[in-house]
Amino acid sequence: MSKTILITGGAGFIGSNFVVYFCKKYPDYQLINFDKLTYAGNLDNLRECQAAANYVFIRGDICDRELVEAVFREYKITDVIHLAAESHVDNSIVSPEEFVTTNVLGTFTILDAFRKSNSRDTSRFLHISTDEVYGTLGETGYFTEKTPYAPNSPYSASKAGSDMLVRSYFHTYGTNVVSSNCSNNYGPMQHGEKLIPTIIRSALSEKLIPIYGDGKNIRDWLYVIDHCRALDIIFHQGKAGETYNVGGRNEKTNLQIADTICAILDEKCPRKNGKNYGKLIAFVANRPGHDRRYAINAAKLETELGWRAEESFDTGIGKTVEWYLAHREYFFKKSR
Ligand SMILES: NC(=O)c1ccc[n+]([C@@H]2O[C@H](COP(=O)([O-])OP(=O)(O)OC[C@H]3O[C@@H](n4cnc5c(N)ncnc54)[C@H](O)[C@@H]3O)[C@@H](O)[C@H]2O)c1
Repeated sequence: MSKTILITGGAGFIGSNFVVYFCKKYPDYQLINFDKLTYAGNLDNLRECQAAANYVFIRGDICDRELVEAVFREYKITDVIHLAAESHVDNSIVSPEEFVTTNVLGTFTILDAFRKSNSRDTSRFLHISTDEVYGTLGETGYFTEKTPYAPNSPYSASKAGSDMLVRSYFHTYGTNVVSSNCSNNYGPMQHGEKLIPTIIRSALSEKLIPIYGDGKNIRDWLYVIDHCRALDIIFHQGKAGETYNVGGRNEKTNLQIADTICAILDEKCPRKNGKNYGKLIAFVANRPGHDRRYAINAAKLETELGWRAEESFDTGIGKTVEWYLAHREYFFKKSR
């Protein structure tokens, strides 16, 4: 095997899409998926690669230093792709401690084990972060890699802390790190707590579709497979010590997202009562500290490394709704 890569959080939404993509694309890489299987992890998402010769799953906590170091030794890990995190902003408002523990301490534990593992000169640590570290935008402008950090939720603050640790290891120890900050992902296998699965599930169960505040908060949506392709390119070609923003150039308000999904469902799966799904949309009290707008300028990744999002929002959301409709039973069982 040319590389043995520890992928943390590979049973989560982005992680499982990424592991399946990488496992098929690089049969000569040994992939070690290291995941605690919190409520957000789901091994069913990995059925496509469970029997693959280049795939191993280990259940473990990234904060467990002894276990992490044992895995580095036993498998002779050459590289790390670090996705494990507590990822849901709403949960970080109720239980911030878990976010600091996993996102800050856990990142430190994996990063430090990587530094001390005496791996090869080419060994690399890819850290996956979020555009939420930049805070909120007004009606204009975009986040670039030079935008100052201004996190507004315990989630984004904990991710910002992890980003700073990764940066410091490059400057202090010369560790071969590279980071990415991406916008909101969507696509197959996302946990039911997130916006798009919530809209689809609520609609199909004839429940009110909850939309925060006035529904005008804007996110820049990125199809998860486009993100996997970006991580592939950044891991292999990104410059050590650099960060790359990843975004789909798909700014949408939450209300536009709900309207679009309802229109697709009206066509594919009409309601028995003849009404449109849109009638189920209901505005609920806003999330505290809810950032108004995120929008990514991905020009650095596009011009320096040649990546471009392939899916428009229309094509990506069509595929996503199709996937949830085709996996209804599984999806309803796993969602809360
Ligand atoms: N989903 C998005 O839209 C988005 C956007 C920007 C950045 N990100 C970042 O991408 C990464 C992946 O996000 P996601 O949406 O797939 O998250 P997710 O919540 O779906 O999955 C997280 C995974 O990490 C695992 N995990 C949690 N704590 C762990 C621990 N202590 N030890 C080991 N494993 C642990 C969980 O079991 C789960 O499998 C995160 O770092 C997140 O901050 C996500």
